[in-house]
Amino acid sequence: MENKILDVIDMSVEGDGIARENELVYFIDGAVEGEKVEAELTKQKDNLIWGKLVKVIEPTFRRAEPPCPYFEKCGGCKIMHLNKETQALFKMLSLKRTIKKVTNLDVDIRDTVQSPKDTRYRNSIQLKVEKTADNDYNIGFYEMRTHNLVNIDDCLVCDEKNAVLISILKEYLKNTQEKIESVFASFFDNSLSILVQTEDGNCDKKLYDALKPHFDEVSLWVSKQFASSTLLNYKDAKFLVGSERIKVHFDNLTIEVSPLDFVQVNLDMAKILYDDIVKLVGTNKVVLDLFSGIGITSLMLAKNDNYVCSIEQIHNSVDSAKKLAQDNNLQDKIIQYCGDCADILPALEFSEAEKENLIAFLDPPRKGAGKPLIEALKLLAPKTIIYMSCNPTTLAKDVRDLLDTYEISSMQAYDMFPQTNNIESLTVLTIKEE
Ligand SMILES: C[S@@+](CC[C@H](N)C(=O)[O-])C[C@H]1O[C@@H](n2cnc3c(N)ncnc32)[C@H](O)[C@@H]1O
Repeated sequence: MENKILDVIDMSVEGDGIARENELVYFIDGAVEGEKVEAELTKQKDNLIWGKLVKVIEPTFRRAEPPCPYFEKCGGCKIMHLNKETQALFKMLSLKRTIKKVTNLDVDIRDTVQSPKDTRYRNSIQLKVEKTADNDYNIGFYEMRTHNLVNIDDCLVCDEKNAVLISILKEYLKNTQEKIESVFASFFDNSLSILVQTEDGNCDKKLYDALKPHFDEVSLWVSKQFASSTLLNYKDAKFLVGSERIKVHFDNLTIEVSPLDFVQVNLDMAKILYDDIVKLVGTNKVVLDLFSGIGITSLMLAKNDNYVCSIEQIHNSVDSAKKLAQDNNLQDKIIQYCGDCADILPALEFSEAEKENLIAFLDPPRKGAGKPLIEALKLLAPKTIIYMSCNPTTLAKDVRDLLDTYEISSMQAYDMFPQTNNIESLTVLTIKEE
């Protein structure tokens, strides 16, 4: 397809610049609202055309110089070319647009809460590994919408130690030719928790020997399953060598985690969000902490004089949460259930007095809470529901299914994932008066 000069008048929720001409809508990767650009058109479907930026002809103040050398190819940081204020605005408007599309409501969304750090904020990274024709190894991320690997030496949004890991892995693989296909690594203080995915579900312990001199503690796990964003898929993951769990220090708490446990990737931002949740809940409540993970929110809520009932599916995480409650002497104020929220919640019983003070807090994975859980929540009818979401589309669907019983009191985006088009948000829903 040909190149075309376009005036960019809007941004899509994916972060592409949008232009319109003669009934045609253009989505241009790398273009920013307010710019005139030259774009290379790559794909057309009906009246929709996709393309990528070739040249900015008239720039906008909203553009920033991406600090990462891999930005143009790597599919990780889609909006690194927007300045910080525009990223925040983009997230607020994308959230608003997604809610409008699904619920038809025009919600007033508060300004995005910005992350304390724009780079080096991630404590974890998921890397793909590929052998090259000359028996070397490429390690990195896929290009946007392809399976072409972009070979990197350092990911700028992740802890600096990721560069150390990548360099050791490249050297190790070159020497051993071991069949590692992907790696999920977390960096906490100077410790490393690492799950490698291999063809046969085995991994040589020599990898541990290569890594250990560079970290205080290393926890090496192996899995045959394909690495995916949902850790529940690592059904066959097994601990291999080192410390089975490593310590995460968060807000005066020490939590022991394995690669199977979910930990918020940007803990500085998570702290701001968790504090807001604690403030919203207040004191002397009975709080349902649904999708409670390693139990940080349960603990913070219990510390603030609430009684907490938490549900989490991963056994490891429930064990960590129980230990956390015990270490902080709050085991009498938190009850933990291990299982699927949609199965456990309908079976829970509360007295009338407890129901009067009941608040539900939920933080589901990207696929959202889903209808059975939303129906169970409506039956239980807590006065307030606080919904933390990492996916505006599934949030919007769950909110739509609550709107016969609840109304939206507030909604706000939190920039948990700077430079990317991912949007974290907090929504407060209040039960409608009869
Ligand atoms: C987004 S994380 C939130 C964790 C926690 N709120 C935090 O901030 O650390 C979602 C959690 O839900 C768990 N999970 C996923 N599906 C679940 C289900 N159907 N029932 C219970 N827990 C589930 C995951 O294991 C994960 O720990």
